[in-house]
Amino acid sequence: MPTLAVYPGSFDPLTNGHVDIIERGARLFDRIIVAILVNAEKSPLFSMAERVDIARAVFKNHPNVEVDTFDGLLVDYVARRQANVIVRGLRAVSDFEYEFQMALMNRELASTIETVFMMPAVKYSYISSRLIKEVFALGGKVHGLVPDMVEARLREKQAARV
Ligand SMILES: Nc1ncnc2c1ncn2[C@@H]1O[C@H](COP(=O)(O)OP(=O)(O)OP(=O)(O)O)[C@@H](O)[C@H]1O
Ligand SMILES: [Mg+2]
Repeated sequence: MPTLAVYPGSFDPLTNGHVDIIERGARLFDRIIVAILVNAEKSPLFSMAERVDIARAVFKNHPNVEVDTFDGLLVDYVARRQANVIVRGLRAVSDFEYEFQMALMNRELASTIETVFMMPAVKYSYISSRLIKEVFALGGKVHGLVPDMVEARLREKQAARV
């Protein structure tokens, strides 16, 4: 049976930590779906359309990476897509407790779906979307921490605001 994995998140915006996990997943599984959660935050910096656009552009040369959106219960989406694996990234011990709870709850809800955790390269292990937005807003350099397209879009948003 081919393994189809779903990597869910808000990706507001996509960071090189996410990209690292997606590339690892694309090597490990037959196909990986980057599933962007609709309405995760009430006021995201990047619209749904922008987040989809960015992920599609970044992975345009990866034929087994698909970008989609979802709403509602993750396990319902995973079942609907007939996927068998949920991929999550683990950065540090601080991610562990929440991820452990979610994985066990998802198993309770859908016992045939396995959650697989992957560690990013150490150089990306401290990056979060929230931190990127904070640092950029305060004038810090995010080059090398996000895809070039994300850096360009952050600049455009900043220019539009002043
Ligand atoms: N730098 C990273 N390395 C490995 N995994 C990551 C990294 N950043 C996020 N992830 C994982 O990606 C998944 C999606 O996370 P999410 O969309 O919340 O990103 P985030 O960077 O944590 O954003 P936010 O700061 O808004 O919470 C989660 O499993 C999260 O642990
Ligand atoms: Mg997060």
